Amino acid sequence: MSRLDSAIRRLTAQKIALAWAKNQVLGRPGPVLELGLGNGRTYDHLREILGATREIFVFEREIRAHPDCVPDDDHLFLGDFTDTLPRALACLGSTALIAHLDIGTGDKRRSTNLANRIRADVEALLGPGAVAVSDQKVGSWENRRAVLPDGIPEGRIHLYQFTG
Ligand SMILES: C[S@@+](CC[C@H](N)C(=O)[O-])C[C@H]1O[C@@H](n2cnc3c(N)ncnc32)[C@H](O)[C@@H]1O
Repeated sequence: MSRLDSAIRRLTAQKIALAWAKNQVLGRPGPVLELGLGNGRTYDHLREILGATREIFVFEREIRAHPDCVPDDDHLFLGDFTDTLPRALACLGSTALIAHLDIGTGDKRRSTNLANRIRADVEALLGPGAVAVSDQKVGSWENRRAVLPDGIPEGRIHLYQFTG
């Protein structure tokens, strides 16, 4: 598969996964956590599909996004996930309904380790019935895996459901 085709498949799977997450929490109040702002692509998409009433809190250590895709200071936790996630718990409690982990940096082993290092802090922020969409497999969430919707090949993106 060409790199172009691979990129298209990855982005398509991400889009389907975010739509799936949105549909799982329809009609229930609670914020969204976006881990990894990057260039702001998925943050912007979440804003678009979720609408203005759903708050999105972004976690990122370094702002490199297009200025249009940078959240205001009240919705940005700037710093390393290991510092900012525990800080967020004090502000938000266990209320989030969607966690989107888009944290990969190209080094698969480091990215998987990071996901496993932060997963307890992410989980603490989730309310009953929350879902997580992750670009990394989270080993200890194995028993929370959701059935993948059509269009997402196995192993490309990982969906988890946290029952109440
Ligand atoms: C794959 S990119 C995110 C792409 C983004 N969601 C988008 O659609 O444009 C991963 C991001 O995670 C951030 N990141 C990785 N490890 C981090 C850490 N330990 N703490 C905070 N941010 C981190 C990187 O700075 C990078 O911007």
